Amino acid sequence: MDAFIIKGGSRLSGRITADGSKNASLPLMAAALLADEPVTFRRVPELSDTANMARLLGELGCDAKSGGPGVFTLSNVDTSLTHARYDIVRTMRASICVLGPLLAKRKRAAVSMPGGCAFGARPVDLHLRGLEALGAKIELNGGDIVATADRLKGATVFLGGPFGSTVLGTANVMSAATLAEGRTIIESAACEPEIVDLANLLNAMGAKITGAGSPRVTIDGVDQLGGADHPVLPDRIVAATYALAAAITNGEVIIDDFPYDYLLAVVDRLNLIGVHVDRQDENQDPTCCTVKITCDRRLKPTIVTTQPYPGFPTDVQAQMMALLCFAEGNSIITEKIFPERFMHVAELTRMGAQLFRQGPTVVVQGNGRLVGAPVMASDLRASASLILAGLAAEGETIVSRVYHLDRGYVQMERVLASLGANIERFNPDEVAEPLKKAEPPLVETVKPKSLAGKPG
Ligand code: UD1
Repeated sequence: MDAFIIKGGSRLSGRITADGSKNASLPLMAAALLADEPVTFRRVPELSDTANMARLLGELGCDAKSGGPGVFTLSNVDTSLTHARYDIVRTMRASICVLGPLLAKRKRAAVSMPGGCAFGARPVDLHLRGLEALGAKIELNGGDIVATADRLKGATVFLGGPFGSTVLGTANVMSAATLAEGRTIIESAACEPEIVDLANLLNAMGAKITGAGSPRVTIDGVDQLGGADHPVLPDRIVAATYALAAAITNGEVIIDDFPYDYLLAVVDRLNLIGVHVDRQDENQDPTCCTVKITCDRRLKPTIVTTQPYPGFPTDVQAQMMALLCFAEGNSIITEKIFPERFMHVAELTRMGAQLFRQGPTVVVQGNGRLVGAPVMASDLRASASLILAGLAAEGETIVSRVYHLDRGYVQMERVLASLGANIERFNPDEVAEPLKKAEPPLVETVKPKSLAGKPG
């Protein structure tokens, strides 16, 4: 398992480009299961999650042909396969996105029930209720969700839950409804830009979807879907993470393909604390433009509450916490999507952060200082938070288990190093092995047998 070693204190400066969105790519790729013709994707980030999704689709008879970096074409060559195995699903909860497309197109889907994750229970009840409303019969069999239906029938589906709507649940129901008979209306649909991107792909394939991006999405079912050529939208979470990396090091960084309009809640909080996100050309598309990140020397504290889009994203909460450790005063962070998503709190505390948690709220007592330490990544965004903390901490930080990070950031250490960060990837086992060989066993050196029991 790789780790990063970071020597903190370098100010980041330079220019980078945001990758395509992981969270958009996964349901987009799954939607290719609905198509009768090949679907080409561009700007797909080369990550372990997208590779796993391609593997899963391959097991479902949907072949991927590469067309160069970030470009590939998916074609359904065997439509008899319907089982998403636990081995893959457990590595990536987003495997659940194949449920709706498989059911709608192949009349049956067996998807291993995803388990919990580092930040708590992750139910899929809303996905299932949505598909049931469209006429699917759903059973749990040997740990698999088994959904069957001859042809789905349009219906009105309510997807609001105790923590708001569900992003992948909306993706599942919307994708399935494209081939249903008649009209489906999703009320309390997720409004995330990734849902709009999915609707754009489906419409390009011949679907009839209106209202995506609002809480009410209408889908008029069609008989079949064709191919398309689709560029994935830029990753707003990656873009925000690099903006925060610039800010935490008091740096000056230009980011291309920055989805400014999709990050207004983050930009708003950054402006309030003294971090400036300035668009460089007002004529550019605000969802994919160039921005420059600069910041005041002294950061102010603030209040952050995570919410469904367009609110502050839960996926940026951990990184924001690291940044607020450097504000002068007390900030308050409340997590309203995943109330247990605070695995980074204990690790940041090891670096000297003053964090006080009460339920879903953490008070961050900014004292402008963190000290490097060995810390352990526990989930994707928590890992990013620890990397940011390491960039600004005094001394050396070792972040272990960065495989979490590789799920969502393309070669983050290279991107940060290109901006001047002192960061390297290494394999702790490979470092430990030569050391073990070089040093004689401690017990023999200290206490040779012949001297055992004798003084001196
Ligand atoms: C997606 C994102 C993830 C992000 C999350 C919230 C992907 C691949 N992942 O995850 O990065 O953090 O949105 O923005 O796009 N819930 C239920 N029942 C359900 C489904 C969800 O109660 O059937 C709850 C969840 O526990 C959570 C809330 O609804 O509290 C939102 O979850 P959801 O939007 O479904 O998250 P994902 O789509 O899995």
